[in-house]
Amino acid sequence: MIEISEILFDEQTINDKVRDLAARISRDYAGRNLFLISILKGAFMFTADLMRSITVPVCVSFIRVSSYGMGTESSHKLSITPELDVDIRGKHVLLVDTIVDTGKTLASLYGKFTNHNPASLKAVVLLDKMSRRTAEVSIAYRGFEIPNKFVVGYGMDHAERFRNLPYIAVAQTSQES
Ligand code: IMP
Ligand code: MG
Repeated sequence: MIEISEILFDEQTINDKVRDLAARISRDYAGRNLFLISILKGAFMFTADLMRSITVPVCVSFIRVSSYGMGTESSHKLSITPELDVDIRGKHVLLVDTIVDTGKTLASLYGKFTNHNPASLKAVVLLDKMSRRTAEVSIAYRGFEIPNKFVVGYGMDHAERFRNLPYIAVAQTSQES
């Protein structure tokens, strides 16, 4: 059984950090239109909160990324559904994810969306498991660096559970007694 073992970031701490990221983004994109690409499902809550605190004009699209292939590290291929509903050519695009782990998801999205010739392409993540990085990926806006533990809540799941938690917690296998 997977259970919550420790709260890493409470609601207030998350709110403060999200507002801080939004303020930095609003400053950096002043005078421009911003196009957010939110990576479902995990980023839905973060995206909603982040957007509400961004003060420049902002549009948003949602994509779903899932890995397919043989399931080994080397065959890690991503399928993106649905395809983007908007032409991002010439737009200032910011990828939004709640957590970056190996970096493979963001790296392959950079690869794909660069081909669409946006004016700029950057990423914002709330959590970064930096010690796990295998793909080279630049992250313009990062909330917290976290240790290599499996976390849930604030949109993130384990087997579809825990997404509704308003805080971020470590999930661990509990000993059955
Ligand atoms: P990456 O491609 O290895 O960077 O993986 C990023 C994706 O893996 C995230 O968008 C999450 O969906 C998932 N993920 C990675 N670590 C965690 C975690 O600790 N909890 C929940 N989901 C995670
Ligand atoms: Mg998941």
